[in-house]
Amino acid sequence: MNEKKIILITGGAGFIGSHVVRLFVKKYPRYKIINADKLTYAGNLENLTDIEKEKNYIFEKLDIVDKDAVFNLFSKYAFDGIIHLAAESHVDRSITGPEAFVHTNIVGTVNLLNASLNAWKDSKEGKLFYHISTDEVFGSLGEKGYFTEKSPYDPKSPYSASKASSDHLVRAYGHTYGLPVIVSNCSNNYGPNQFPEKLIPLAINNIRNNKPVPVYGRGENVRDWLYVEDHAKAVDLIFHKGRPGETYNIGGNNEWKNIDLLKLLCRIMDKKLGRQTGTSEKLLTFVKDRPGHDLRYAIDSSKLRNELGWEPISDFSEGLEKTVDWYLSNTRWLERVISGEYQKYYQEQYSGR
Ligand code: NAD
Ligand code: DAU
Repeated sequence: MNEKKIILITGGAGFIGSHVVRLFVKKYPRYKIINADKLTYAGNLENLTDIEKEKNYIFEKLDIVDKDAVFNLFSKYAFDGIIHLAAESHVDRSITGPEAFVHTNIVGTVNLLNASLNAWKDSKEGKLFYHISTDEVFGSLGEKGYFTEKSPYDPKSPYSASKASSDHLVRAYGHTYGLPVIVSNCSNNYGPNQFPEKLIPLAINNIRNNKPVPVYGRGENVRDWLYVEDHAKAVDLIFHKGRPGETYNIGGNNEWKNIDLLKLLCRIMDKKLGRQTGTSEKLLTFVKDRPGHDLRYAIDSSKLRNELGWEPISDFSEGLEKTVDWYLSNTRWLERVISGEYQKYYQEQYSGR
């Protein structure tokens, strides 16, 4: 790609954002990639040490809730495109403290939409506001069926309600003001650099430390898991080839009951840690369920596959093994992110269960 572009990626210091930033910085040397992130507990510049010195990469510390700061950033750079990932992203935290989700996910998104509209008031030609969202906006499935781009919105947690709200606002700006927008809704991601409050890295960390692994309810809930680099590749494809005004669902076609996934992970951990088969599984501990816990998510991503030719390439047990290897060889990263705030969160989240 020879074209020059200035791209804003919000939330680029987080889990998925850091993989998207890395892909864009490496693949598009003629682009200027501005990573704007508040660096909350979930944002970590250590996720990007391998590319931080690249000439086409710039980091800007930014709270998207701060309207003036957002507008200042837009006057500093003439952005051609926005890929908006910054969000409060953990369902359990949204249950104990919904306000931050309303501020960042809704107000923050509106600030970015207004700044884009203002920046592109003379011409919207070739510009794009690409909003990264979740399959959780569709609510919960029963045992059968899939979420398609036409599934009705039915969010059930404060997190998913805030993401649904931001999706509606993005589309409303497209419809009302002609802002070129795209939304994609993705299923559960896993892979390196995920904060260990989420199921897979939390379980890896607890197993490594011989601590109980909390399984909510009976472990019967189903999630559709996608390797994070496959999501980043979909973002690249949608950003460059997607049609403005459209929505794309992204999913791994890879459904697992939590309990089955954890048993597979335990077997991998036993092998990697040189433990006798069955040792890690003894750590699985059923605990009180998440309030309002969605039963099943599963994505039909045929539109993305058929229209844009996207294909997730990672085999799940291979991807999981790669993920375990990453955490076991990056214990310094893990130890740093689980100090301080994480200890307090873990105590509050799991002590009553
Ligand atoms: P994450 O929590 O790992 O990272 C979020 C990033 O946003 C962090 O770097 C954080 O510092 C930043 N951030 C938070 N509040 C901010 C603010 N007010 N201003 C600026 N930056 C702020 O999240 P993730 O799992 O990487 O998810 C990224 C996006 O993808 C989110 O929009 C999420 O809803 C969506 N998503 C996630 C998944 C998943 O499985 N993790 C699946 C589908 C969609
Ligand atoms: O579907 C996409 C969504 O996936 C994203 O939008 C969210 O940002 C992301 O956090 C994720 O949400 P989930 O709630 O599905 O992910 P989490 O890792 O928190 O939980 C996965 C499943 O595991 C869920 O059924 C709850 C269960 N669980 C989770 C934790 C943290 C446990 O059983 N024990 C745990 O300790």
